[in-house]
Amino acid sequence: MLTTLDNIPASDPLANAEQKQRIDGILDGYKDLPGGLMVVLNELQSQIGFISEPMQAYVAERLQVPVSTVHGVVTFYSFFTTTPRGKHTVKFCMGTACYVGGTPQIIEKAKQVLGIEPGQTTSDGMITVELCRCVGACSQAPVVVVDEESHGRVRPNKLPQILRPLQEPK
Ligand code: FES
Repeated sequence: MLTTLDNIPASDPLANAEQKQRIDGILDGYKDLPGGLMVVLNELQSQIGFISEPMQAYVAERLQVPVSTVHGVVTFYSFFTTTPRGKHTVKFCMGTACYVGGTPQIIEKAKQVLGIEPGQTTSDGMITVELCRCVGACSQAPVVVVDEESHGRVRPNKLPQILRPLQEPK
């Protein structure tokens, strides 16, 4: 069941006057543009950092499109997130070469080490785990991308070594 605007949690950007103003500014700026939905969502992701379910409902109302359409776009593109991303993002390549080369086993290891599934963020807000498409380094499969840095030929037992520095607050 998708969230409606009747019950916005206090932690939501829509409940914060300053952030609400930014959201309204984005909507006012792009709502009449053809294909404005994608532009609005891109701006919300970049400026607010994520697109919560109440924000999706608000965008739908303001742009007069079904909430299911907004939700569909947000969940289809991995660039969009519905919760804030962690300080670091760890992406596992799901392209064919990496998948066949062992990405599923690395993901299993990540679940054991971090206790989260792809699409989730650790409770300390340090690491978000995501899946991605081929990053063009197939000869290095399986590839794990940490923030902007690619690590190739990653074996599950090497993953803790890659994750450890990310788990320490600097
Ligand atoms: S399949 Fe992973 S880099 Fe191409």
